[in-house]
Amino acid sequence: MTQLAIEDFLRQKIGLDALTVGSNTIARCTNKRMADCGIADINLYLLKLQESPRELEELIEAVVIPETWFFRDREPFVFLSNYVVSEWLPKNPGKILRVLSLPCSTGEEPYSIAISLLDAGLNPQNFIIDAADISKVAIAKALRGVYGKNSFRDRNLDFRDRYFTSQGDLYLLHDLVRSKVNFIQGNILDRYFLTERNPYDAIFCRNVLIYFDSAGREQTILLLDKLLKQQGILFLGHSETGQKLPPQFVSVRHSLAFAYRKAEIPDSPQGLVKKDTAKTYSSVFVRETKRTDSRENSGSYKSSNSYSKSFTARARSTDIAGGPQSLTNRAAAPTAADKGSEKGDLETAQLLADRGQLQEAAKLCETYLSQNRTNADAYVLLGQVYQATGDRFRAEDCFQKATYLKPNHYQGLIHLALLREERGDISGATIIRQRIQRMTK
Ligand SMILES: C[S@@+](CC[C@H](N)C(=O)[O-])C[C@H]1O[C@@H](n2cnc3c(N)ncnc32)[C@H](O)[C@@H]1O
Repeated sequence: MTQLAIEDFLRQKIGLDALTVGSNTIARCTNKRMADCGIADINLYLLKLQESPRELEELIEAVVIPETWFFRDREPFVFLSNYVVSEWLPKNPGKILRVLSLPCSTGEEPYSIAISLLDAGLNPQNFIIDAADISKVAIAKALRGVYGKNSFRDRNLDFRDRYFTSQGDLYLLHDLVRSKVNFIQGNILDRYFLTERNPYDAIFCRNVLIYFDSAGREQTILLLDKLLKQQGILFLGHSETGQKLPPQFVSVRHSLAFAYRKAEIPDSPQGLVKKDTAKTYSSVFVRETKRTDSRENSGSYKSSNSYSKSFTARARSTDIAGGPQSLTNRAAAPTAADKGSEKGDLETAQLLADRGQLQEAAKLCETYLSQNRTNADAYVLLGQVYQATGDRFRAEDCFQKATYLKPNHYQGLIHLALLREERGDISGATIIRQRIQRMTK
């Protein structure tokens, strides 16, 4: 129980969704910290965690995933350079370009931005890069600017010869690049984080939303909206492109850049897009919306009703996609562990979904999951509901959790494969399909 309390505490403080890194990982880190503090009782450790910001920092350092490398996914950097040279500079003569990398981990991302801008011919005085992360250890490494070979995974390493000096197995970044990035330690979930600074022309917020729960993702998007200038460009990670964004974020339609321009949206009569960002992110979506393409947000929306109607058909289409029905875990199928009324809740949720009452179905599933956090069937049902509302990011998140909890959850795997195919992650989808084939042999 206390392990769950620690997971909840981390969720509140840094948005971390325990299912993404695994409860075992959090338990391992907790045990290590308890040993380091000389505390044997997990309840006492929880108290310490709640009272000591220093200990919270230590645990955060242990659980965050600082994985990053130079020019991770090349295209965002290519797009940034082209955009700056062909559009931003002509429109902003004499101005200073402002870019933010959040989170920046150990610095490879913001330094790649600096190298891209220098290579694009920008004068170092004409741009500013801020870079922030919650991890002090990561920021300290970024400031040193010394990297091993693991930081260079891109095939094109031409930049390494031009901007680094090698010393044994290490590469020392030149001061010209190092001096272009200001590092800041902070929490993306602090709703006023960096808001005292001038807004940015471009923000890289890549490979962090995938670790957050939905509330954390929503809060982060609100913050990014505040920090980004009108017409500014937001870059997400490739696996975050299904993230439901407010409609002012329109895909730039540059393949594999995963970039969105913050467009001016006139206030609609229904107040669909409110400028008051203090409102919760969910309330911004007064009406459910759907992107026609999860990878490249076309900005074309439909009301939820049309998707409500298609719920049953969509759910069935995954059954048709292959595999024996006997392996299919129907979302509403009761498990022995279910208590009477909770089982009823899930059955009711399925009924509501079939009737097209998606919001009610989602709410019921969420309530059910708050009490039955390890029920894979409930995650699949909730995923189907989200999918029917067009929220592919949350849907994928649910199917991911279902298959984490039950690795052979047939329906969860099928949905996951289809969603990955839809967003162009063919290799990811193929791996899942191979897993399904092995299961059904
Ligand atoms: C996988 S790295 C991504 C780095 C870089 N953006 C990239 O795509 O290569 C994730 C980073 O998010 C940071 N992080 C996690 N939660 C955070 C939070 N609440 N606020 C700020 N940074 C956070 C971690 O410390 C870690 O360095």
